[in-house]
Amino acid sequence: MDIETEFRAIVVDRTESVEGKKTQGAALRMVSDDFLMPGDVTIAVEYSSINFKDGLALMGRPGVVRAWPMIAGIDLVGTVEQSTDPRWSAGDRVILNGAGLSETHHGGLAERARVSGDFLVRLPEGISAVRAAAVGTAGFTAMLSVLGLERGGITPESGAVLVTGAAGGVGSLAVALLAARGYRVHASTGRVDELGDYLRGLGAVELVDRGTLSEAGKPLQGQRWAGAIDSVGSSTLANVLAQTNYGGVVTSCGLAQGADLPATVMPFILRAVSLIGINSVEAPLAQREEAWRHLATDLDLTLLDSLTEVIPLEAAFDAAAGILAGTVHGRTVVDVRR
Ligand SMILES: NC(=O)c1ccc[n+]([C@@H]2O[C@H](COP(=O)([O-])OP(=O)(O)OC[C@H]3O[C@@H](n4cnc5c(N)ncnc54)[C@H](OP(=O)(O)O)[C@@H]3O)[C@@H](O)[C@H]2O)c1
Repeated sequence: MDIETEFRAIVVDRTESVEGKKTQGAALRMVSDDFLMPGDVTIAVEYSSINFKDGLALMGRPGVVRAWPMIAGIDLVGTVEQSTDPRWSAGDRVILNGAGLSETHHGGLAERARVSGDFLVRLPEGISAVRAAAVGTAGFTAMLSVLGLERGGITPESGAVLVTGAAGGVGSLAVALLAARGYRVHASTGRVDELGDYLRGLGAVELVDRGTLSEAGKPLQGQRWAGAIDSVGSSTLANVLAQTNYGGVVTSCGLAQGADLPATVMPFILRAVSLIGINSVEAPLAQREEAWRHLATDLDLTLLDSLTEVIPLEAAFDAAAGILAGTVHGRTVVDVRR
């Protein structure tokens, strides 16, 4: 690719009215190479994806983008065009999840990116670029969560593991990954009737109506799960902690219901439950490489295809609206060259 040519990018910008009211919006634009920020590695991006955070950024909602104008997209998969980082050469296939993309550094919803080589992961053998984007931050986070449970001592023999927000991106991949590793997976969803067969197809053996977990509950409740992967937060996470077995482990990565945690210390001090935080954005390189090694081997790629929709760049806005409205399930990959 000629480095001088313009390329397409979804750019989030912020305007301020004379009264000082700030409005954020995103648009598909042509930008030139000098629009990119400094970085050692220039990448011809092939695919990005739509995560909850991309929904927020593309729909003009606050909380993700922290400098303007900003190319959106917290994920990218592509091929190195140029590199001054000795670890990377032209032609290398690479993955980048989080690491400030679409927050403080231009992201992956564009045909080109220029980034630091520090957090790049080599596309593993056996997984294509489009499938790596289907995994994306959602799958990477699901894998970090599974590894978190296992570091806490949970094994398939420990008992059933609950996944909340199960039909979402993180949730769907968490169900599939846990089932592939031999866990008995219970899936909590607000769409039992609509998506029950989908979740059973991913490997869930029991479905839990999320309404039974979303209201404030008692500090300690009947013990149901050895572990849980939660992407919902708020009263749901509080109830999950209250229903986790003695010695169980719960991971927390998200706030789909809310950022609050109206819980007590009872599950910790009377049931020795552990709560583990998951942050994919700033995960160190060694953790990224470990997670991607497992993703490339553990995940049933045909199953991954069945939960993935691939869309062109300009359709990213509709997909963003859909993820915020809770009408999409599984994963949406953006083919930025289409
Ligand atoms: N910490 C990290 O590194 C990290 C990384 C990735 C994502 N996240 C966070 O994890 C969360 C999920 O991300 P995602 O990309 O998987 O989003 P997503 O695809 O929109 O999935 C979220 C799911 O949560 C459930 N949900 C939505 N609103 C809810 C509510 N009010 N009460 C209970 N459940 C609700 C829905 O599942 P059902 O339809 O099945 O009920 C929805 O599909 C987000 O908060 C995101 O910011 C964090």
